[in-house]
Amino acid sequence: MKRKPFIAGNWKMHNTIAESTALAAAIAKSKENKNQADILVAPSYTSLASVAQTVKGTKILVAAQDVHFEEKGAFTSAVSPSQIKDAGATHVIIGHSERRSLFGDTDGILNKKLAAAFKHNLVPVFCVGETLAEREAGKTLSVIESQLGNGLAGFTAEQLKTLIIAYEPVWAIGTGKTATPQQAQEVHASIRKYMEKYGKDFAAKIIILYGGSVKTDNADAIMAEPDVDGALVGGQSLVAEQFIRIINFNANK
Ligand code: PGA
Repeated sequence: MKRKPFIAGNWKMHNTIAESTALAAAIAKSKENKNQADILVAPSYTSLASVAQTVKGTKILVAAQDVHFEEKGAFTSAVSPSQIKDAGATHVIIGHSERRSLFGDTDGILNKKLAAAFKHNLVPVFCVGETLAEREAGKTLSVIESQLGNGLAGFTAEQLKTLIIAYEPVWAIGTGKTATPQQAQEVHASIRKYMEKYGKDFAAKIIILYGGSVKTDNADAIMAEPDVDGALVGGQSLVAEQFIRIINFNANK
C-alpha cells in the first residue's frame, strides 16, 4: 500500500507572530517537494491566524498544538475547536507528550479532545509514546497499545478515518537521541497491526508519523522504513532550510 508522505512541524512555544509568518512564508516559497508530501505546520495559538493567512492558497496545512474539548464557556486560557478552526487550523495535535507530562492530559481527557476534533472536522494528529523507563522495562508495546486503546475508546472506524497517529518516544523528544530506524519500524508495525481492529484496509491506509529528534541527517533512514509514513519534527522545523530538507527526504521507497 502506497501512502502519501506527511511531514509536520511542531513549533511548540516558539516565535513571535512576525517570526512565525516569516518561517511559514519561507516554507511556502520553496516549491521543492519531490516526495509529494503533505506538509503541516503547527504554530502557537497567537500565530495561528497569521500563519493560516500566510499559507492560504498554498499546499501547506495548519494545525493547532492542542485544543480544549468544550465548545465554549468559563474555561480561562483554553481554546475551543471552533476557535482554532476560525483561526484557520484544519488539523490539531492531540496528546503530545509535553501535554501529557507537563499539563496533565490524561488518556480520558485526550479521548474527549479527539471526540471534539472529530465533531468539528478537525484532523487529529494523535501522539503516543513510551518513556525511557517503560522501554527499559520492556513495556513499550503495551504502553502504546494502552494509550491507543484508551484514547480511541468508543470511536468507530468511520469516525477515525481521518486520524493520523504520531509515535513519539518520550526519551527521543528534544534530546537529540533518535530511535533507530529499526526501533521506529518495530513500533510503527505494531501500531498498524493494532489498528487492524478497525479493518485491514483501515490499517493499511492510516498515516503513522515518527517524532523525536528527527533531523536532516537521520530523516532519510527513518523515512525508508516501510511503516514510517512521515515525521513530526520539533527543533528542526524552526529553521526553514532544515525543514525543507526533511520534507525532501531521500527514502528510495
Ligand atoms: P524534537 O520534537 O524534534 O525537537 O525532538 C519532536 C516533537 O516533540 O514533536
